[in-house]
Amino acid sequence: MGSRCCKQQLLFTILISFLLCFVLLCLNYSVLTDSNNGENKESISSYENNIIPLNTKPSDSISSLPPSPSESDSCLGHYIYIHELPSRFNEDLLKNCHLLTRGTEKNMCPYLVNFGFGPGIEFYEMGLFRTSQFSLEVIFHNKMRSYRCLTNDSSVASAIYVPFYAGLDVSQYLWGFNTSMRDSSGIGLVDWLARKPEWKKMWGRDHFLIAGRISWDFRRETDNESDWGSNFRFLPESKNMSMLSIESSSWNSDIAIPYPTSFHPGNDSEVFQWQDKMRSRSRQYLFSFAGAPRPCIKDSIRGKIIDQCLASGSLCKLLDCNYGATNCDNPINVLKVFTDSVFCLQPPGDSLTRRSIFDGILAGCIPVFFHPGTAYAQYIWHLPKDYTTYSLYIPERDVKDGEVNINETLLEVSKGKVLELREEVIRLIPGVVYSDPRSKLETLEDAFDVSVTGILKRIDGVRRSGEGRDPSIGFANKDEYRFTFGPNPIN
Ligand SMILES: *[C@@H]1O[C@H](CO)[C@@H](O)[C@H](O)[C@H]1NC(C)=O
Ligand SMILES: *[C@@H]1O[C@H](CO)[C@@H](O)[C@H](O)[C@H]1NC(C)=O
Ligand SMILES: *[C@@H]1O[C@H](CO)[C@@H](O)[C@H](O)[C@H]1NC(C)=O
Ligand SMILES: *[C@@H]1O[C@H](CO)[C@@H](O)[C@H](O)[C@H]1NC(C)=O
Ligand SMILES: *[C@@H]1O[C@H](CO)[C@@H](O)[C@H](O)[C@H]1NC(C)=O
Ligand SMILES: *[C@@H]1O[C@H](CO)[C@@H](O)[C@H](O)[C@H]1NC(C)=O
Repeated sequence: MGSRCCKQQLLFTILISFLLCFVLLCLNYSVLTDSNNGENKESISSYENNIIPLNTKPSDSISSLPPSPSESDSCLGHYIYIHELPSRFNEDLLKNCHLLTRGTEKNMCPYLVNFGFGPGIEFYEMGLFRTSQFSLEVIFHNKMRSYRCLTNDSSVASAIYVPFYAGLDVSQYLWGFNTSMRDSSGIGLVDWLARKPEWKKMWGRDHFLIAGRISWDFRRETDNESDWGSNFRFLPESKNMSMLSIESSSWNSDIAIPYPTSFHPGNDSEVFQWQDKMRSRSRQYLFSFAGAPRPCIKDSIRGKIIDQCLASGSLCKLLDCNYGATNCDNPINVLKVFTDSVFCLQPPGDSLTRRSIFDGILAGCIPVFFHPGTAYAQYIWHLPKDYTTYSLYIPERDVKDGEVNINETLLEVSKGKVLELREEVIRLIPGVVYSDPRSKLETLEDAFDVSVTGILKRIDGVRRSGEGRDPSIGFANKDEYRFTFGPNPIN
């Protein structure tokens, strides 16, 4: 991440300043500072995209689909059609994985084996993987290949999956390439898609794709060569599709789903075994932070957080992820610290989200968030709406102003409350991991299952609204308040 340091960080400084201005100008500041305020919980629901009817039953969702041969078909409303894309949009990227190293210091090839899980490793007598945070599009494609309700008949499909490896593709050109190089695959893809018969059915609104990079990498708004990323998500066809990625942008058609972690269980008992291990850990640190300071981001609170951690002595464990220090890409280094900690601090980094959120949950470590856009406003399908059930919230501003001692705030949480929060975090584990596609979890839903349910519901909502009004309304709108606690927190 370090190599795209200052350029993208500048972008985020601007973005975050912008959001802060909104917060200060438009919101009642006191609402943001009080995390125990009951109204806050209410307002989080406004992050739900309002074109999705939340109470939709899958069986109601076929109104505009052809009649089915069998009433008892359990796949009804769940059929997904996978586009057979030309290999340059996906498989060729895997074949040429050595080219994906350009601009980064890592060779992606080893991380793409085992369905995109990367090489196997062992931890606490469990089989884990050295999974790259950028592998999601490969993992998801492999999971989709064994999805229960695939169809080769696109006319019965409720959704069309476009297996474009958008993130791997753009990663070749993010550093030091002109905008036409960065944009070219995206333009080629939408050109291919729009010629297919499937396109005209809903003008792409039943299409979805997955990106293993943050949405902002595809949201370059100008043709200024110095701006970051590609323009993929601003292409007219792309605007008509939904994209699920590790971090969403301010546009409603970008939806966040969990970063891949290193745990990819093959069966339910493996999950239960892991949960039991996390439950029974004795945790020697009150809190920990794994990361590096962000000196390029003027408003970053990371420096303050590192200072507070160091000032807390044995209460806090700092895992310094600076280059040349600990290798935080090795999940064992990170999990060792998180499984020994009661709370894990998750301040924004280069962007609002971090893979560390999910490493922490996996380790049964209670997340402490500093910004509503780090998790609450992102992973709305995968994390509970009532964020007080599984996390703590300390407003970023309070840390910046030196108004809060993190160690004291955490020491004040009662033992009973800690147990309650941790139990909820551990309960979330199956829903935020991507299980092994060679087998199916029996009683549990993994992050993939939750994502598929979410996208089917979203598309179904668009399909139904299309019966009465223009389906484009609200689909890809920009929501300035998406990463705040909302414009009208009281409702
Ligand atoms: C779709 O067609 C391919 C190639 O003919 C076949 O291998 C595959 O099993 C079919 N899938 C389904 C779900 O019918
Ligand atoms: C962009 O860069 C590529 C090679 O990196 C070059 O072939 C192309 O002419 C450049 N395009 C523009 C518009 O500068
Ligand atoms: C492009 O961006 C740079 C840096 O933000 C700025 O200095 C320059 O004026 C911009 N160029 C154009 C043509 O807008
Ligand atoms: C996007 O959808 C609208 C209908 O809502 C349609 O009029 C438009 O042509 C679509 N765009 C493309 C590029 O297909
Ligand atoms: C679950 O997976 C683990 C690891 O592969 C294996 O050792 C175990 O036997 C499996 N358990 C069941 C019940 O299938
Ligand atoms: C808590 O952190 C503050 C700095 O934020 C420090 O001055 C204080 O000594 C710490 N207290 C303990 C008990 O570590």
